[in-house]
This record gives sequence, structure tokens and C-alpha cells, in this order.
Amino acid sequence: MPNVIELKDVNKIYGTRVKSQILYDINLEIEENSINSVVGASGSGKTTLLNIMGTLDRPTSGEVIIDGSNTKNMAQHKLAKLRNQAIGFIFQFHFLLQEFNVFDNVLMPSKIQRNSRTEVKERANRLLDMLGLYKYRQYNVLDLSGGQQQRVAIARSLINNPKIILADEPTGNLDLHSSEDVYNIFKQVNKEYGVAFVIVTHDKHLAGRVIKIQDGEILLVSPSAR
Ligand SMILES: Nc1ncnc2c1ncn2[C@@H]1O[C@H](COP(=O)(O)OP(=O)(O)O)[C@@H](O)[C@H]1O
Ligand SMILES: [Mg+2]
Repeated sequence: MPNVIELKDVNKIYGTRVKSQILYDINLEIEENSINSVVGASGSGKTTLLNIMGTLDRPTSGEVIIDGSNTKNMAQHKLAKLRNQAIGFIFQFHFLLQEFNVFDNVLMPSKIQRNSRTEVKERANRLLDMLGLYKYRQYNVLDLSGGQQQRVAIARSLINNPKIILADEPTGNLDLHSSEDVYNIFKQVNKEYGVAFVIVTHDKHLAGRVIKIQDGEILLVSPSAR
């Protein structure tokens, strides 16, 4: 299996005068079509690691290779394009745009690609249908429950047909039932669309390969469940 993400000797240091090192010599590969959970105590560096994987943040040293492209010296606009094409993001706080309806929120990441509008709209409808949201597509996102809002965010993350989805505590604000829904949807999306997942999560939702991080170091990587 080819890797969709490779991290090579990644270090992250914040601060200039007072430096604090957050990540230490991270070497990690994420395989195409795999499910990976990242676990670790609060403050251990999970979000920093995920943001670096998603090229939202740059490492202080080391390399990040996305779908075969080394991002180290990539120009900003090229990096933005690669990120938008290859990676879908799901956050704990869904960051839906409150002044837009469900359908337009799902379409948002597709706006900077030059794809056929008709195809994108068809895809949005298919995703909303899969996520049980089709009948809500004209609703304002504020009129949905927390679980429904997170499903809108999942549809949005899939609109550009990404190879990778990065999810940072995606169920952190959901009740048990909605959380289970979200994890079942992830498994279904992984199976049907072949998307690789990296999910920062709590132990109760462990899925696939487990990457344990402690004080900015990878402590353990369990073998893939497949
Ligand atoms: N922009 C930043 N500047 C300085 N320190 C930061 C910044 N972002 C995160 N940190 C620090 O890095 C450490 C790891 O944070 P984070 O990656 O958010 O951990 P986690 O997601 O595992 O809770 C924490 O000590 C946090 O305070
Ligand atoms: Mg975090």
C-alpha cells in the first residue's frame, strides 16, 4: 500500500525567546485506505501533530510528504491547492458557517476547485443522502442538533473526494449515541470511498491502528487491524 502521509524526523518548537519543544523526531507513515487513531493525554501534542500532518502548520525541522509530494519547499498557493484536494478536515468544533444552509456549507471547500458545478452538487446530494441529511439540505445549520451538525462537517470534508481525512476529537462534544454514529460513518466512508482516516480520539472509540503519543514522542504504534 502506498503512503498518503509520511512524516520524516519532524520536530516542532514553539517560541523564539523562550523555546518549548512540542514534537520530537516524529517518523510516521499513514497508508492509503487505513484507519488510524491518535491517543494521548491532554497537552501531549496530538493537535500539533495533526495540524502538521494536514499542512496547516509547518514543522520546525523535518519533512511532510502528502500523497507523494514533499511539502517542505512548496509555495503557499501550491500547498493550499494540494491540501484542499487531498485532505478533508473535521474538528471538534465543526466551524460550520452559520449564515449558510446545510447544502452551501457542504459545497464550501469545492469553491476553489475548478470542478463541474453539476457534478459537485450531485456529489453533495449523494453525501447528504448517505449521512441521513438530505431532507435538511435547505435548513440553516443552527437549526440542527450537534450530531447532525457534525455530520454536515463530515459531508463537507468529503466534497473534494480527498484521500485523507484528519479528525481532531470529532466526537468531543457529542453524546454517546451520536459519537457511535460518527464512528460508524467513518468506517462506512473508509470502506466505500477508500479514504484514509487519522482520528484523534479517546480510548473508548479506538479504531484501526493506534498511535500513542506522550510528551511529544510516539510511544507506541499498534499494527494495523487489517
Ligand atoms: N501556538 C502555540 N504556541 C505555543 N505553545 C503551543 C501552541 N500550540 C500548542 N502549544 C503547546 O503545545 C503542547 C501540545 O499542545 P496540543 O498539540 O494542543 O496537545 P493536545 O492536542 O494533545 O492536547 C501544549 O503544551 C500546548 O500548550
Ligand atoms: Mg488537542
